[in-house]
Amino acid sequence: MATLVYRCYAKINLTLEVLRRRADGYHELASLVHTIGLADDLHIDSANELLTRVEGLDIDPETDLVARAAQLLTSVTRVRSGAELTLTKRIPAAAGLGGGSSDAATTLVGLNTLWGTRIHLAELTQFAAELGSDVPFFVRGGAALMRGRGEDLEILPPLRAQWLVIVVPPHDVLDKTKRLYAALEPGDFSDGRVSNAAAQRLRQHLPVVEDQLTNAFARPARLVFPGLSALWTNVEAICGRRFFLSGAGPALFALAADRADARRQEARLARLGLATHAARTVKHARASIKLADDSAIGYP
Ligand code: C5P
Repeated sequence: MATLVYRCYAKINLTLEVLRRRADGYHELASLVHTIGLADDLHIDSANELLTRVEGLDIDPETDLVARAAQLLTSVTRVRSGAELTLTKRIPAAAGLGGGSSDAATTLVGLNTLWGTRIHLAELTQFAAELGSDVPFFVRGGAALMRGRGEDLEILPPLRAQWLVIVVPPHDVLDKTKRLYAALEPGDFSDGRVSNAAAQRLRQHLPVVEDQLTNAFARPARLVFPGLSALWTNVEAICGRRFFLSGAGPALFALAADRADARRQEARLARLGLATHAARTVKHARASIKLADDSAIGYP
């Protein structure tokens, strides 16, 4: 039985600017995104029908996105084969780290391989846009400047292993992305210049600088997520540095000097009982894992 195993990486939004509201109800974005070493695993086995299972977290929406990705590929390719998709979750769900979107993009790429349907990546990226605004980015991953709804991607040279510390506040806000967009006020909108300047650093193969990190949802997130504002202030005081919101949050991240610094901050925050991760930027959206080697692969 053919088995493919993928590590599906999360992302952070180094910048996220909202330019304007569009006539279709979506918003025009400029966001510098980068994949990071925090990952879910997706096992894909051949089967007669389509089955999806999840381990590690009690979440429906993310399995749902994997199932929707599989169904989408079935309908466009008209393949008659099935697949058994088993997702092992490590990326906190609905936290602004793109876990569900990464899993969905890997489902498209993985099934395209399993079924031998040979759809070109550019076309898969178009299908990905039907599944969510962040999904096209995860077909390739690495670093990109997202524009439009999120589907217009300028691929950039990825960062050289930037270490980060990430903290995921407890959260349970229904429809948070929609609510955050709805809570934007005129002062939260900007023109994309900050994202472009940050992207320019990557184009020149330079590291990002903290002064260029920004997120339009920083203000509304403090209102929408109960307790986030106090926790944010606390985390910044404990680690002695600024933390930034990723995506629609509530995950917060800070730049770390190196691996040791990231681990030190992670330990400090973990002592307070916070869910925290040290991770570094990675150059792709996924890694293919050979089953025999699985145990030998260190966590990136
Ligand atoms: O596309 P996705 O399902 O990820 O978006 C969730 C919600 O976030 C949308 O229904 C929309 O309200 C909002 N959104 C937006 N502009 C974007 C992306 C998302 O208004 N560029």
